[in-house]
Amino acid sequence: MLSGKRVLVGITGGIAAYKICELIRMFKRQNADVRVVVTPNALNFVTKLTLQCLSQNDVYCEAFNVPEWKPEHIALTESDIFIIAPCSANTIGKLANGLADNLLTSTAMAFKNPILIAPAMNDGMWENKILQDNLERLKKAGYEIIEPETGFLACGSQGKGRLADLNKIFDKVVLFLNTSPIDREVCSQFEMNEKIRKQNEGCYCEKINNKKILVTAGGTKEKIDPVRYITNNSSGKMGLAIADYLYSKGADVTLVSTFEIERPYKVTVAKSADEMFKTVKTIDFDAVFMTAAVGDFKVKNVSEQKIKKTDGNGLNLELEQNPDILRYLAENKKTGQTIVGFCAESENLIENAKEKIKKKGCDYLVANDISRKDIGFDSNENEVYILDRELNIKKFDKASKTLIAKGIVDYIWQN
Ligand code: CTP
Repeated sequence: MLSGKRVLVGITGGIAAYKICELIRMFKRQNADVRVVVTPNALNFVTKLTLQCLSQNDVYCEAFNVPEWKPEHIALTESDIFIIAPCSANTIGKLANGLADNLLTSTAMAFKNPILIAPAMNDGMWENKILQDNLERLKKAGYEIIEPETGFLACGSQGKGRLADLNKIFDKVVLFLNTSPIDREVCSQFEMNEKIRKQNEGCYCEKINNKKILVTAGGTKEKIDPVRYITNNSSGKMGLAIADYLYSKGADVTLVSTFEIERPYKVTVAKSADEMFKTVKTIDFDAVFMTAAVGDFKVKNVSEQKIKKTDGNGLNLELEQNPDILRYLAENKKTGQTIVGFCAESENLIENAKEKIKKKGCDYLVANDISRKDIGFDSNENEVYILDRELNIKKFDKASKTLIAKGIVDYIWQN
């Protein structure tokens, strides 16, 4: 399962250090290449020899004890993952404040791959405000915290602070080794959505609760041949943020997305504009957010075989127009439906948006400026204007797409 993976295990001074002998064996059983770096204090709880035998590698402790040409903390950073367990309050404090006063902390400082920490300590230390602030800081810096458990502690008291179960630590390491950051983001977003929806239960926004809301997201892909296609820069993040927020407010959400994604609500994948059009027409909705960047053109004669190049020649593709989905939905609007369009403009944002809302016939149009690199396409942030039929305009200042989604949805239903 872990063949070819290099796992760096960091051990700090705490009684739970003895448990890490078993964790190292768990990694070894799965054929991982395990290296161990310890703080000097850790060696009060577990011996270097034990760790060497179990990891079948040298155990690193002192900085600048260099058998190879590279400083050890740099050599150790060539691992796929760094799991620090147990991680003491002292080491957490150092990491959170950028201190690198021993080999373990300097390795963490230079480490570019994921760092997971499994704290273990006395319950009073765990509850300490400074420690909790330090953990928040580490989370913001991208560290993954594997929370300790509640139970009987080695110091004799009862409370939160026991090192997390070794299976849980092992599973987290495997998850990080086998998934991309995007997979993990989706996974945690999924858990977060469930949590928020549960928290809101019973006090959903009345106007949104149980409403059937259709959201489209992503850039469509138009086939050229079996391997090539025409697409655009849309990441789908804005559409996802809107669908997630609506779901958290109790809506019956259907997402029609150009990419595969796991969500706690209905998701249908439609890659091309034609597929999206066909899918959207089958869905009954109270409101639609056409967030997808639908390609305006498709290739007229899609080649069944891969198009071969001929020396020195270019390629002419004949394009034809795709259906305008938003316009169709607006023209066929049923009583009580709300139709929201989006537009991305590279110049004259407001003027073009005013024209577009009239042309498309939708109730609201959300406009963003794609000439800016810091917002919009592929970015996590956006800054938008929302127009209604009377051409009233409301601006939402630059913020995360999650906050912009909340702003748009709240604005529409509070109006
Ligand atoms: N849209 C659509 N079908 C299309 C093109 C766009 O439903 N074939 C929708 C988009 O989902 C978006 C809105 O129309 O909600 C505006 O998209 P935009 O690309 O800005 O407008 P276009 O109609 O493509 O106009 P142009 O490219 O000429 O600016």
